[in-house]
Amino acid sequence: MRHRRERGRKEQHSNEKEDSGAKNRESTIHTWDSTLGVATPFSTLDAALKVSLQPGSILETCLGDPRSLDRVSALERLRLADAHLALHADAVAELVRAMTDRLCTLTCAERALIIDAAWLHDIGKLTIAPETLNKPGPLTDAEWIEMRDHPGQGADFLNHSPALGQLAPLVRHHHERNDGTGYPDGLTGSDIPLGARLIGVADAYDAMISWRPYRAPRSETDARAELRRCSGSQFDPDVVALFLDVVSLPRSQRRT
Ligand SMILES: [Fe+2]
Repeated sequence: MRHRRERGRKEQHSNEKEDSGAKNRESTIHTWDSTLGVATPFSTLDAALKVSLQPGSILETCLGDPRSLDRVSALERLRLADAHLALHADAVAELVRAMTDRLCTLTCAERALIIDAAWLHDIGKLTIAPETLNKPGPLTDAEWIEMRDHPGQGADFLNHSPALGQLAPLVRHHHERNDGTGYPDGLTGSDIPLGARLIGVADAYDAMISWRPYRAPRSETDARAELRRCSGSQFDPDVVALFLDVVSLPRSQRRT
């Protein structure tokens, strides 16, 4: 599976090389936000550098035909394709589960949908070259475009699945920001699906307290402080308040 994934990525990179116009343009370096895993403001090169990717085929190589995929097979294949990504997905899903346990207005079906989306929120990252994902330094514009494309790629893939298509909007919008400066669509506030807002906070928290090639993990205290600082701008303040209540509890008490 891993080898097939690598082959798919090589094919993708070959296609990128063909876009010599994009590659030859002067490239501004952007810094990966080591705190929240978000891009610094993007330049007008965003559109100009758009590369021709074929990530759909890469996701199919990693996860199988979306038309025959269900949640169990999708999770199994994600674990086989990228153990690190699967560990992060497990952590985010557990945090999201604890939040949904406390949202009495959700139906069981809505709750299950949000938790499944939390597990699969980053499947689009399987289309990103490992050297970009694991790069210890700043990303180039082209690498940033690749990085910012992952929510849409994951959603597009899920949209082809009769069993998992309902997860697509939550996956697509998990990097939107409350103030509209997120991606891919710049949605604001309550226009961002609730499940995506829950996933966004849990995702940022787990990213902050986890090791990354470009930085050491932050303490849970620091991560909570950062969520408070970004409440209202990046994150829905109600979701941040709910999340902080959840993580203030011992892990054994987070499930209701
Ligand atoms: Fe993501």
